[in-house]
Amino acid sequence: MKKKMWKCVAAALMVVVLAFGLTACGSKKEETKAAETKAEETKAEATNGVLRVGMSGDYPPFEFYAETENGRELVGIDVELAKYIADKLGMELELTDMSFDGLIGSLDEGKFDLVISGMTIKADRKCLFSDPYYTADQALLVKAGNEDKYASLDDLKGQKIGGQMGAFQQELAEQYAGDTAQIVNNVQDMVMMVAEGKLDGMFCESGVALSAVSKNSGLAIANLEIPTEKNELGVCIQEGNEEMLNKINPIVAEVVEKNLIGEWEAEFLDVEEAAAE
Ligand code: ARG
Repeated sequence: MKKKMWKCVAAALMVVVLAFGLTACGSKKEETKAAETKAEETKAEATNGVLRVGMSGDYPPFEFYAETENGRELVGIDVELAKYIADKLGMELELTDMSFDGLIGSLDEGKFDLVISGMTIKADRKCLFSDPYYTADQALLVKAGNEDKYASLDDLKGQKIGGQMGAFQQELAEQYAGDTAQIVNNVQDMVMMVAEGKLDGMFCESGVALSAVSKNSGLAIANLEIPTEKNELGVCIQEGNEEMLNKINPIVAEVVEKNLIGEWEAEFLDVEEAAAE
């Protein structure tokens, strides 16, 4: 008799556990469904043959303003990548420049189809990421003469170290400098602040530091090893828009395979930035 009762209790417990499991499953499914519906609704705007790409034009050689034969315009690795993708999709390209911090939110609201902005593939970002198109190292940009000022990252504590708002480098600046980290919206402003001695240094992708140093002899890259987890850059796509992701990945694979990124990097590394408007 007792045995039977235990069996009953065990069975009842199992039902409860199962029910919980199912609810959890259900809500995950609902989330995906909601993201898909949202992507479906906002995608409608994109279907009239225009590929809307958002970027933050303050990050040479990835995206920045230069004087070209067409006047002052956005150029760089990511601009070439955007053109390549639009071309492959048979769409017209519409580039929008905005502050880095607002890019993913705007993508999520359906204002862009893609964000291509030297964006690090990070799990906490609210978007889908393509396969990586670039693997980046980090650098600390300093005033020329200060390249050996810091023996290790621990020496950055209490220094005025810059990182871009909303970027991976904001985390690095806060992690190593602590309370004296300076979070700046625009990378080009931050580079000026380093050159003028208003900042002791700033974190950025090493390609960006190289580009800054090649154009300004008052700047240098600190002799510091900056250990980070693998930092790969990817194209961001609205959550739920698997259809777009499946179109973008083969194009990214092609670009990587042909080493076009390397060519574009060489092309744009020492192109002068146009003066701010
Ligand atoms: N890779 C870094 C990140 O994703 C910085 C990218 C900054 N890009 C820019 N266009 N300012 O957080």
